[in-house]
Amino acid sequence: MDIRDHEPLPMYKPANDRYQRMQYRRCGKSGIDLPLISLGLWHNFGHTDDFRIQRQLLRQAFDLGITHFDLANNYGPPYGAAEENFGRIMSKDFKPYRDEMIISSKAGWDMWPGPYGNFGSRKYLIASLDKSLRSMGLDYVDIFYHHRPDPDTPLEETMGALDQIVRQGKALYVGISQYSAEETAKASKLLKAMGTPCLIHQPRYSMLDRWVENGLLDVLEKEGIGSIAFSPLEQGVLTNKYLGGFPEDSRAKKDGRYLKMDAITPELLQKVEGLNAIAQERRQSLAQMAIAWLLKDPRITTVLVGVSKVSQLKDNVDALNKLEFTKDELKRIEEILKK
Ligand SMILES: NC(=O)c1ccc[n+]([C@@H]2O[C@H](COP(=O)([O-])OP(=O)(O)OC[C@H]3O[C@@H](n4cnc5c(N)ncnc54)[C@H](OP(=O)(O)O)[C@@H]3O)[C@@H](O)[C@H]2O)c1
Repeated sequence: MDIRDHEPLPMYKPANDRYQRMQYRRCGKSGIDLPLISLGLWHNFGHTDDFRIQRQLLRQAFDLGITHFDLANNYGPPYGAAEENFGRIMSKDFKPYRDEMIISSKAGWDMWPGPYGNFGSRKYLIASLDKSLRSMGLDYVDIFYHHRPDPDTPLEETMGALDQIVRQGKALYVGISQYSAEETAKASKLLKAMGTPCLIHQPRYSMLDRWVENGLLDVLEKEGIGSIAFSPLEQGVLTNKYLGGFPEDSRAKKDGRYLKMDAITPELLQKVEGLNAIAQERRQSLAQMAIAWLLKDPRITTVLVGVSKVSQLKDNVDALNKLEFTKDELKRIEEILKK
C-alpha cells in the first residue's frame, strides 16, 4: 500500500441520483452522449499528488454524473503516473461501473527514448496504447487519440494505426487533438474511408484562446465530429483565484511547468477582473461563466476541466444551473476580450 493510501476510504457506492445531476450532449454524428463537463487527469493525478484526494476527486466526479475521464500516456508526473493511479482507483472503486464510463487516452508527445516513442508512427501508437491498457488495467479504452499532428509521418499511417487499434478491439472510438482545420478535414476523410469515423476532436478552447472559431468548428460540424474543449479555464486563470495574488496551493505557484507566474500579467488580470464582474452580476463564479460561455455553442460537446479540489468540481458542475446568456452580456464579454 502507498504511504499516501494509509487511511483507506469506505467502500464506494455511487450516488443514486448521479444521472439527474448532469446533462449530456450527443458527440457529433455518433451514438455516444458525453456529459457537458468531463474530467481531465493531466494535473493532480501524479505520484507527487495525494492518492486519497485523487480517489475522492474521481468518486465525486462520478457522483455528479461525470462519466468521461480523459487521460494520456504522458500525464503525471512522472510520465505514465496518472494512468497508473487511475488504474489503481479503477480496481478499488470503479470496476463494477466500467460500462458506465468513457475512458480516453492518447499518444503523440515524447514518451520513451529512441525513435519509436514520439509523434505519429504506427509503431509508437500501438505500443503506447498497449502500455496504457496495462497501466490502467483495462481491456480497452473508449476513445484513443492521436495527441498532436506529426508533420513527418504520412497521415495515412497515423490514421491507419487508429483504424487498426479499433479493429483490434483496443479502443471503441478514435479522436485527434490539436489538429488544424485543414489537417482535421484530411484526417476525417481518411478515417471515414476506412470505416472508423473520427468521433471527437480535442482542441484548446477558452474565452482567452479562440483559434477554433476560425474554421475548425465549421469542419467538425460538416464532418459530424464532436468536440471536447481542453483548458477551458486557462489552467485556472479564468477563475477569481489570481485576482488577489498567487495562492500557495495554485498551479502557477506550485507547478510552473505549463502555467508560469509571469504569464499572468496585470493586463490579463484586468480582463479577468472585468469578466469576474459580469459573472458576479449573473450570480455565478467566473469558472462557471467560462464553462457556460463555451457550452453556448452546440458544436462543443463537452468542456474538459481539471480540478485540484473536490470543491472546484462542484463549483464547475454548478455552471449547468445557468447556461444561457443575454445579448447584452455576450456583447460586454466580447468588449472585454477584444481589449
Ligand atoms: N489534448 C491536449 O493536448 C491537452 C492539453 C492540456 C490539457 N488537456 C486535457 O484537458 C484537461 C484540463 O486541462 P486543465 O487542467 O488545463 O483545465 P482547466 O480547467 O483550464 O484548469 C484546471 C485548473 O483550474 C483550477 N480550477 C478548476 N476549477 C476551478 C474552480 N471552480 N475554481 C477555481 N479554480 C479552479 C485548478 O487549478 P489549481 O491547481 O490552481 O487549483 C485546476 O487545476 C487536462 O486534464 C487534460 O485532460 C489536453
